Amino acid sequence: MKKLILSVLMAAAVVLQARADEGMWLPSLVKQRIGDMQAKGFKLSADDIYSINKASLKDAVVLFGRGCTGELISSQGLLLTNHHCGAGQIQAHSSVEHDYLKDGFWAMSQAEELANPGLTVSFLERMEDVTNDVLKGYKSSMSEAERAALVKKNSEKIIKKATAEGNGLRATVEALFYGNQYFLFLYREYKDVRLVAAPPSSIGSFGGDTDNWMWPRHTGDFSIFRIYADKDNNPAAYSPDNVPYKPKRHFKVSVKGVNEGDFTFIYGFPGKTQEYIHSDAVKYIAEVSDPHKINLRTKRLDIQNKYMGESQKVRIQYSAKNANVANAWKKWQGEAKGINKMKTVATKQAFEKEFDVWAKGTEYEGVVGKLADLYAAIEPYNFAADYYTETVRTIELATLASNVAKIYNAKEFNAGALKSTLASFYKDYYLPIDKESFVAVMEVYEKNMSDDFKPSYYKDQMAKYGSAAAWAEELFTTSIYADQTLAEALTAEDKELVLNDPAYIFFNEYSKWYNSEILPKGQALNRDLQLLYRDYMRGQMEFMKGKKDFYPDANLTLRVAYGNVKGYSPSDAVYYFPYSSLKGVMEKDNPEIFDYDIPQKLRDIYATKDYGRWVNQNGEVPVCFLATNHTTGGNSGSPVINADGNLIGINFDRVWEGTMSDIAFDPDFCRNIATDIRYILFVIEKIGGAGYLIDEMELVE
Ligand code: ARG
Ligand code: GLU
Repeated sequence: MKKLILSVLMAAAVVLQARADEGMWLPSLVKQRIGDMQAKGFKLSADDIYSINKASLKDAVVLFGRGCTGELISSQGLLLTNHHCGAGQIQAHSSVEHDYLKDGFWAMSQAEELANPGLTVSFLERMEDVTNDVLKGYKSSMSEAERAALVKKNSEKIIKKATAEGNGLRATVEALFYGNQYFLFLYREYKDVRLVAAPPSSIGSFGGDTDNWMWPRHTGDFSIFRIYADKDNNPAAYSPDNVPYKPKRHFKVSVKGVNEGDFTFIYGFPGKTQEYIHSDAVKYIAEVSDPHKINLRTKRLDIQNKYMGESQKVRIQYSAKNANVANAWKKWQGEAKGINKMKTVATKQAFEKEFDVWAKGTEYEGVVGKLADLYAAIEPYNFAADYYTETVRTIELATLASNVAKIYNAKEFNAGALKSTLASFYKDYYLPIDKESFVAVMEVYEKNMSDDFKPSYYKDQMAKYGSAAAWAEELFTTSIYADQTLAEALTAEDKELVLNDPAYIFFNEYSKWYNSEILPKGQALNRDLQLLYRDYMRGQMEFMKGKKDFYPDANLTLRVAYGNVKGYSPSDAVYYFPYSSLKGVMEKDNPEIFDYDIPQKLRDIYATKDYGRWVNQNGEVPVCFLATNHTTGGNSGSPVINADGNLIGINFDRVWEGTMSDIAFDPDFCRNIATDIRYILFVIEKIGGAGYLIDEMELVE
């Protein structure tokens, strides 16, 4: 018996050892990794990566919007991010007449750059461990709710103090390791960010959702913006008087190219990972949540694709929405598959068993069992929440109705807000899609949701109409929002009408039920869960001391990941090389298929081999490459940096077989995908004819 326990112990210890290249490290603590990084080829120091005393690489990296990364590539505020990160802005400037999404956009001078109200970029000024200040006044007798209130209050004080230091500052206090540690992140946020360039979507999202999350890949997923500041280089609202921002630091661009085995380093803002969760949580994700959400989204995507294929107008209207829905849909498929293949549930169960044995007599005794009990209790609520977000909250007309109702419920009626809410909604709305989706998702909901997790409002409606289809028929004809002209005729006097609209009632009844029956119970259970996780996390760190280096789960704060350029073998008898080239673009080129219909200009260039300087040692134009960096959503647009600290590519994706890395990292299958910087330069010069942008950059040959 003892022998058995021992061998189980050793097996798990091996699996849980921080494997090569796993990890998203805090830049301010990168000193702890720098030895390993240098051993793997990195030539710079920890201070070059992060310093608060001198300009460092961190000053060339920004949080782009609230979910992507961008990097500075010139001394005049030029910023590189992904095409899919800028797609919202590119689309907002597009119409059937000026289809910048499809045809691309190239400002030929600063005067031609386009302003983007609402878009911000944030530079990290500094990060700081504030655990002691956040927990000031904490007593172990406090409940989790009391602790949360204390953390909130103390954090607000810390934020207030930090942001008083200067102009344009924004701060957050974030929990790391489930609240065993707290860090302050202080940002300087710039608000005048203009669109400079975007390739045609047949380059920028070449391969569309078919190639998304896949290798071999041939996407030139980039767009270019410029940050503007006031005359003193400080953040300012958009003004024609603003001038290009002068960054403390920008990346030099390496055109030396990449080879298999080369050191790579990614700096960016990964959004969310859950590396330390209980096996039951993993099981729920892989066996319940992912499959149900995938099914619901398949229905919606089929409907969107049908109408988008029929009309160019609808295709533009739904391009961003469709890409969003499809993106997670496909990722979840890879994730569930990867978790099953890696046997993550069984591995975690084995680990939990040995942890439990070790924990006897410590403060961690019984934690694992309590977590399992809590998961059993919380799962029905998570299931209801998954369905609520993937059904009710996807009905566009209902969301509009709720936004309009908010305007009417406000103390003062704001006619301008109403007008712009309606205008931006109808610009991208196609009712048949919404209506058919309503029917499709509500039918699945009817089938899969147990009766005690359905509100009486729903039951009444179904009793009245008999089917989701009949209900939709009524809702989508009698709602005032079904008719744009009627909606636009609403005046301040129409509150009654707005609050009795069937689309609003649908939204409101559901959210009332959700906010009173589901959310509070889910939240209460979640608080208990957080409390246990704080212990379990600390326990795991103690248990694995000396055997594993722990990094905090991603939470959209700045991180460093490092690895090397590397291919992989996804299945028996298949090996993927880590780079692709223009030849592969041509192999996929197909004028019949929207996502593969490349610009004629690119075909002509290929025919005449007019590649300029942007070729690899084989005379081919490089397009994408793979590396072993641990990344996730939010790392889109992140700079991929070589051993010298220069830019060699821009991160935009992961391979499908490795998307479980948000939960468990497998060095054999987890690869990030980057567009080679040389392809970006090639497209700027040869397709965009915007070589003046390259002149702004500092190239390293
Ligand atoms: N999978 C990448 C990410 O998670 C790219 C998404 C955009 N591309 C697309 N075809 N939807 O953001
Ligand atoms: N495309 C993702 C993003 O938008 C990056 C891919 C991933 O999830 O790693 O951040």
